[in-house]
Amino acid sequence: MVALKSSLLLSGWTAAVAALPPPGRAPPCRFAPLHSQEDILRDPNQFLQDYLYWEGKFHQNDVSYNTANGMSYDGTQLDWKTGIASKKHDFSAASKESLQIMIYAQAISGSPEAARFLSPDRPHAAVDIAADIMATKIKTYLKFNETYPGFGGFLPWFNSASQDIAPTSDWVNRVPALDNGELLWAVYGAIEAMESCGHKDLSQLAAKWSDWLDYTKKTASKIFYAGKGRVCAVTTIGNQSLAVTSPGQTYACEGTATLDDPYEGELFTWWLHFFSDLPQEDQDALWEAKRAKLVSVEYEMDGVGPITVQEGYWFSSHEQWKVLEMPYYDVDIVRRVFTNAERVRTCNSVVIKNPGLFASINNITNITSDEIIGYISNTGIPSVSSQKKQENIVITPYGSYPTILINKGVGLAWVRNMLIAKKMQNTYGSTEATRIDGTGVSALLTWDSKVTTVAAVLGGVQDLVRTRLRRHGLYNDFVSILEREHSRVFTELKGEHVDLCLPEAHVPDTGLKDFTSCVASPH
Ligand SMILES: *[C@@H]1O[C@H](CO)[C@@H](O)[C@H](O)[C@H]1NC(C)=O
Ligand SMILES: *[C@@H]1O[C@H](CO)[C@@H](O)[C@H](O)[C@H]1NC(C)=O
Ligand SMILES: *[C@@H]1O[C@H](CO)[C@@H](O)[C@H](O)[C@H]1NC(C)=O
Ligand SMILES: *[C@@H]1O[C@H](CO)[C@@H](O)[C@H](O)[C@H]1NC(C)=O
Repeated sequence: MVALKSSLLLSGWTAAVAALPPPGRAPPCRFAPLHSQEDILRDPNQFLQDYLYWEGKFHQNDVSYNTANGMSYDGTQLDWKTGIASKKHDFSAASKESLQIMIYAQAISGSPEAARFLSPDRPHAAVDIAADIMATKIKTYLKFNETYPGFGGFLPWFNSASQDIAPTSDWVNRVPALDNGELLWAVYGAIEAMESCGHKDLSQLAAKWSDWLDYTKKTASKIFYAGKGRVCAVTTIGNQSLAVTSPGQTYACEGTATLDDPYEGELFTWWLHFFSDLPQEDQDALWEAKRAKLVSVEYEMDGVGPITVQEGYWFSSHEQWKVLEMPYYDVDIVRRVFTNAERVRTCNSVVIKNPGLFASINNITNITSDEIIGYISNTGIPSVSSQKKQENIVITPYGSYPTILINKGVGLAWVRNMLIAKKMQNTYGSTEATRIDGTGVSALLTWDSKVTTVAAVLGGVQDLVRTRLRRHGLYNDFVSILEREHSRVFTELKGEHVDLCLPEAHVPDTGLKDFTSCVASPH
């Protein structure tokens, strides 16, 4: 593998990155039990420094990404006993790319927390590290577009182990809207960071990324828009090797599924709304098509509530991804509804004596076969969701990221409560997930389960996207559409006086042994 070069940038401008914490000593790998919940609530920063330090060990060649082409890997399984990276997932998707790019965007804009994640021993190198990988990555994106022009710049699930990425076998001639919506706004934020730091090399890099991003504005509606406000959830491409505008090229929705959700899929709706060539009538239709699923419901259980929330699909934390990427909380009614969601998320776990929080996640490792048993999509809070059939047996640290966005201390107290369970820390930070009953863990690392939380600590790219929307004169439109759509549904909110809840239960010790490479220190 090619070693990381710092050739792109010189260090003259890094002085702009002020007030980084001194490197200091490395915290112990099994740091979570050394912090009490009370300490975290009093001052989350100590825990956070340790957390970012170890979570950042995931950011390694051959573990979470490929230095040769700058592309993410979905993740890596861990050896059950030692906790050392074993079987790599050599594929990835636009959604994982969005997390990777959000971290780089914040590193480039000078975030000390992003620097702690990327380069704790040399915080001032974080900008170079992020910029170098972004420079490598854009080359890979452009090469992909050249080889597979039918994707119109968008990404399918892809194999990232070879220098040039290619669609995975199950994504040949297919492309998803949701993941790409996540990618687009992360890049939008990253471009803002690269442009505004006032360094020539980074401006040039921003221009390359802008070319790519602008190209998706031209192709988005052709590939994904199906008329009458409908957006294909997945589009079937006639021939991925043919240019978008080739006479023989075709695009059609795969099946009947459309992207009309009020959750993370909405990021793609915004892209079409702001940047595609759709006439006003279709732009309006985009929002009308989504109205049926924006529903107000009330949570009430065992004396908690009523609390008014937006109905979940499963109420998995994954559904809140959009708020990492756009400044949704600037709109009062949205912020209040989302704050209520965290009251429900945290208090529901206390009511049902759950030591953690639910989000769609990989199931536990089958120790006999050394394989992950499956993926549990359907997990959240059934009583406030449209999908009632759920499998609520596994909890994951990233269930906390929407809580962190509302209240860092409370969110991190939940993270801690899951990390102290057996095997839930390793030499790359947090482990994917644990069963509530403590009989198994998912010995795996993924961007989804780890870096959503890191991104939330950084505030996602909300600030960068806000600045850029303003720069482009789109911010007022963003705010007024959110106000219009939410005030139709949310009139009176109940439960706004309820406090966020803190964990009370613990994952029981059933005799699982911590990973041997990350054990508690003897004292
Ligand atoms: C992507 O490929 C198409 C077709 O070859 C080309 O016209 C377009 O300029 C490329 N986009 C970028 C950003 O290079
Ligand atoms: C797709 O297009 C490429 C490039 O024109 C062509 O070589 C290939 O035969 C086409 N594939 C099919 C299945 O038609
Ligand atoms: C675990 O793997 C073994 C061996 O392949 C298999 O027989 C068993 O059914 C698996 N268990 C689960 C729960 O998937
Ligand atoms: C998750 O694993 C449990 C065994 O621990 C199994 O009973 C269940 O069916 C699995 N669910 C999925 C979706 O993989």
